[in-house]
Order: sequence, then structure tokens, then C-alpha cells
Amino acid sequence: MPTLLLSLRPLLCAAVLALPLLAAGQANPSAKAISPDLFGIFFEDINYAADGGLYGELVQNRSFEYAPSDHEGWHPLSGWDYLHEGYAMGSVSVESAAPLHPNNPHYVQLRVENPLQKGLGLRNKGFDGIALQAGAPYDCSLWARVPAGTAVPLLVQLRDKQGAVLAETTLSAQAAGWQQYRATLTPSAAAPEASLVVLATGQGVVDLDMVSLFPRKTFHDRPNGLRPDLAQVIADLHPKFVRFPGGCLAHGDGLDNLYRWKNTIGPVEQRVAQRNIWGYHQTAGLGYFEYFQFCEDIGAKPLPVVAAGVSCQNSGGTWRIGGVGQQCVPLADMAAYTQDVLDLIEYANGPATSTWGAKRAAAGHPAPFNLEYVGIGNEDKITPGFEERFKMIYDAVHAKYPHVQVIGTVGPSPKGEDYDKGWALASQLRVPLVDEHYYEKPKWFLTNNRRYDTYDRARPKVYLGEYASWGNTLFNAVAEAAYMTSLERNGDVVCLASYAPLLAKEGHTQWNPDLIYFNNSTVVPTVNYYVQQLFGQNQGTEYVAGVVAPPAGAVADTTVAASCVRDAKTGDVILKLVNASATAQPFQVDLSSFKGLNLAATRTVFAGDKDAKNTFASPRTVLPKVAPYKAVRRFVYSAEPYSLTVIRLRGRR
Ligand code: AHR
Repeated sequence: MPTLLLSLRPLLCAAVLALPLLAAGQANPSAKAISPDLFGIFFEDINYAADGGLYGELVQNRSFEYAPSDHEGWHPLSGWDYLHEGYAMGSVSVESAAPLHPNNPHYVQLRVENPLQKGLGLRNKGFDGIALQAGAPYDCSLWARVPAGTAVPLLVQLRDKQGAVLAETTLSAQAAGWQQYRATLTPSAAAPEASLVVLATGQGVVDLDMVSLFPRKTFHDRPNGLRPDLAQVIADLHPKFVRFPGGCLAHGDGLDNLYRWKNTIGPVEQRVAQRNIWGYHQTAGLGYFEYFQFCEDIGAKPLPVVAAGVSCQNSGGTWRIGGVGQQCVPLADMAAYTQDVLDLIEYANGPATSTWGAKRAAAGHPAPFNLEYVGIGNEDKITPGFEERFKMIYDAVHAKYPHVQVIGTVGPSPKGEDYDKGWALASQLRVPLVDEHYYEKPKWFLTNNRRYDTYDRARPKVYLGEYASWGNTLFNAVAEAAYMTSLERNGDVVCLASYAPLLAKEGHTQWNPDLIYFNNSTVVPTVNYYVQQLFGQNQGTEYVAGVVAPPAGAVADTTVAASCVRDAKTGDVILKLVNASATAQPFQVDLSSFKGLNLAATRTVFAGDKDAKNTFASPRTVLPKVAPYKAVRRFVYSAEPYSLTVIRLRGRR
């Protein structure tokens, strides 16, 4: 490619560039190419989204690494109970003298003086209990060592809340060095709040670490995999990309809390666990390999976000007294930090013979993951320290990987100092995209529907990386739907968009609203989820103006919105009609510019009371209704109050 074109590339939305041209005779004069990656998802380990959530591990604190710095009062035995059954005598202690791996410094030592047949050991109740299914196999794994070289028998059990044994097996810890032992447990009955018990039933000393329990059935049957029901609900959104690992988690609470991707790959017992910025503990069991694998499994592009060499500007200020503010990686360390970012791209895309590509291959994935995007920074304060470090990283990535689209950051709000400074920096450096964030009232989304209509198309493109209206009612969802039609209309400048946050566990929620709530047995997709799903499942590659007209006067009151997109791959035409008002609204539809459309369409209506919600008590109260719909070339469609209607017409390629 000529030099001139290469240097212009950063200012063009790569995704739009990648669009195929429409075949002759099919082009519509009022159509414009839009990003084919527009709607994706934002995943952050907030609200127990990873550990205790999407990550399939059922044991809490499996490696005895919980600490008071994770959460007040936590310690290496948090989540564990000491059991000495019958008249067994002995002790349990936390040790660190000769760990399984230096990255995993603590382990437990059981000293059995007299087992008196029943034994002593530990019980783990998982994350609010372990939910077991009858007859399903569960894979237990633990690392053990008998320092004296004398074998110690272990009894491993699954017990229900009342203590009844649902499954059990025996192991014999025999090696003087650390060794992994595995067993399969198949419970005889279902139990919503079970526990895993490990008892030493013979005299002696045994060290234990990484005591783990996974359902055999994980999403796509991946080892060290994901909870299948939750992963499937996410997959059903049909996201075009997955952003990870955050959010604030990416830039961390102080420099020692930056999310370091290299700490999260390789054998799980060698990964570096760390304090989660949201006040708990991250095992890194769901690490970069698993994120990339999940993206591939659901057909989404990976979009990792790394810290821009600075920590969160609220460092030390969220739950501890005396914040320290944004901290910068010392300039002397920036070359190494920047190299880590380059290594990430090699890990994702490099050949299996490259240093980092080889680690990906060793994890079981010799083929590249085809990384196209990388975010640098997360709504950081735009200070001179940030600017200097961002530029170093950006220049290095752009020089070595010019086809990887770097995403800059423009603060936490839709306007203000960091927004202005972030945009100025990105424009000056010709960064391809910037990451806008905003959480606002539904009314804001309705009245700001024209926000991107006037964005300068010559400047960097937009990744709307975090947005949500404050609430989980149907009105919130419909306001978001109205706004999303404006993202489609401006899909030439807004290349990517993701609602945030994605997941929240009942009883462990630091942030509301979220898209999907869950506990150990139930998943509750919110009404906002169904809006995201309808847009995700009905994305187009071009926006076609002039097909749907809102009711006269409606633009002024901002309570209605509509879009028409076409998918060039299938030729399908998709109409989205949004009514955020209390009365039915007539939309005029004119399909006459499309040739070869099948007018026997599918219509999906998502509607209900303004305040309707999905809840744990009633998780499926408001659902989209799908039915055949006979369209004609020109018609008036009356949209129900508080509704999103999607009409999909099959087309020709
Ligand atoms: O989405 C929750 C948080 O909101 C993210 O971690 C952060 O980037 C934003 O402030």
C-alpha cells in the first residue's frame, strides 16, 4: 500500500473500510456503509462477573490467596471451614515456606494426629453455596504433597446443605513433591447450596493447594471454562466484539493493581491473583487466553483494553481513606510496559513460532486470534503524565502493527475537560478511534438522539464503550433503543458500541443498573438486555435513509425514533421502530426502493408497561414476541406505547 494511504488509514474506521461494495444494480442511492462491528459487549469483573460468575470454578478461594487487602476481614482461609469429624485430632495451618509456585504463595497444611476413622480437613461452600445438578459429572482437582513421604488418604465429598453426602471418592496423596490429583464426582441428587469437603483420613501431614471443582459441562466444553447458561445468554446477544477486562479494572487502583495480561495466562496455578478494584479478589482463572477463546466461540472480535501506563485517577480513594490519585508508571519502566502491549498483540496474532504466539499455541490454540482492536486507557484523567505515556504506547503499536486499530480514551462523561483534552490528543495523534463513556437518565438519551449527526467525519471515529440509562425499566430500555437507532444512523462515525456493565451477581452488586443479573441457578436478562439482543441480532452493514418516517412533529418531542439498515451479506432489510411515549405512534414505511425483497417478513415486538422489569421473582415477565408479518411496499405501522418493533425482510444478495 502506498505510504500516503498508510498514513491516512488511522483516520478511517477500519471496519467501514472493510465493507464490500454492493453489486451493481443493488446499490441504493440513499444508503451509506456503516460499521459491521457496531454492537458488541463490555465485560468487566465487577459485581462478581468473573469469579463466582462467568468463570466456571465452583470453589471460592481455591488457592488460599484471599487477603485483607482484597476485602476487609478476608484471609487465606476465607471461604473455608475447618472440619474435624467425630473425635479426629489435629490442626490446619496456612503455610508459605515451599509453595506450589512463587506466584501462588500460600497453601494449607493438615496435620492429622489421630483421624479416628472420620478424619479432619476443610469444607468449601463456594460462592454462596455450590449449585449441583443430579447425575452431572463434576471434575475435582487438587494439588497435594506429603512432606514426610508417607501416603495420606484423602476423602473428597460433595455434601448438601444439611450435610448429606451426595458423592464421594478417595485419593491417596503419596508424593513428597507437589502433585495434581483428579477425581470425578457425580451427585446423586440436585442441591442448590452444596459444599466440597476434603478430609485427611489417615495419620500424617499433607499440604493442599488449588482445590478446584468444575462442572464437566462448560461452555463449548472448554477446560477451565465458563458457566454454560450464563455464557449462552451472552452469546445470544450476537455481539460483534467483546471488550475486556474492563473498565476501571483495566487501569487499576494504583500501579501495583494495573491489570497485567501476562499474569493471567499459562497454567492456572501459576497465574498471579490480585485484588479486584471493586473490592474483592480476582483469581485470573478467567484470563486472557480464556477471553480470546470465548470471543472465538461466540463469533465476536476481541477488544482488549490495557492501561495507558497510568492507574485510575481515583486510586486509593474508593473505599480506603486518603486517595493517591492517578499514578504513572515511571518513565524508566515505560519501555518494558510498552513491550508488554506489543507482546499482547504477538500473543494474539503472532505465528506459533514467535515467542508469545508459542505461549498461545502451548495453551492449545496455534492459530491466531486475529486481534483487530486494542484500547489504550480507560476514561483516564488526561494529564501530562497520561499524554506522554499514551503517546509512547500508541506510537509503538502503530509503528509495529499499523493494521491494529488503537482506541484512545476521552474521560468518563459525554463532555467536560477530559472529554475535550482526550479528543484533542486523539485528533492530534490521528488515533483511529476514541472510547466515549456515559451513564445518563433516559431523557438524556432521548434528547441527545442527534449527538453524532454533527460529528466531524474527518476526526477519529467513536467507540461508545460504556453507556446505559440509569435503570432497568422498560422505559430505560426503550430510551436506549431510540438512541441505538441514532448509532446505526451514524454507524459511519460510531464504529463500536457496548452497554455497560454486562453482569451482576445477586448479593454482590457494586454497580446498578446492569444488563444481566444472576445467582447460582437463575439468570435474569433485563429488559435492557432484550433491546441489546434485538439490535445485536439485527445488525446491518449499511444505513438506508428515507425508508421510515416518524409521525409528524415527533422529532421535536424526541419520543420516537427509527432506523433502516440493510445487511449486504444477506440482502435483508431491517426496520427498527421505537416508541417511548404513552400512546401508539404511526410510522410511515416506504420499501419501494428495494428490489427483490420478500414482503413476508418477521416482526418482533418488545413492549409493555413503562415500569415493567424482569426480576429474580419473575425473570421472564417482559419478552419480545416474534410473529410473521405481511408487509407491503408502502404502509403505516402503528407502534405500541413503550415499544421497540423490529421488522426483518429477507432479501437477495
Ligand atoms: O461500568 C462500570 C464502570 O464505569 C467502569 O469500570 C468504568 O470504566 C466506569 O466508570
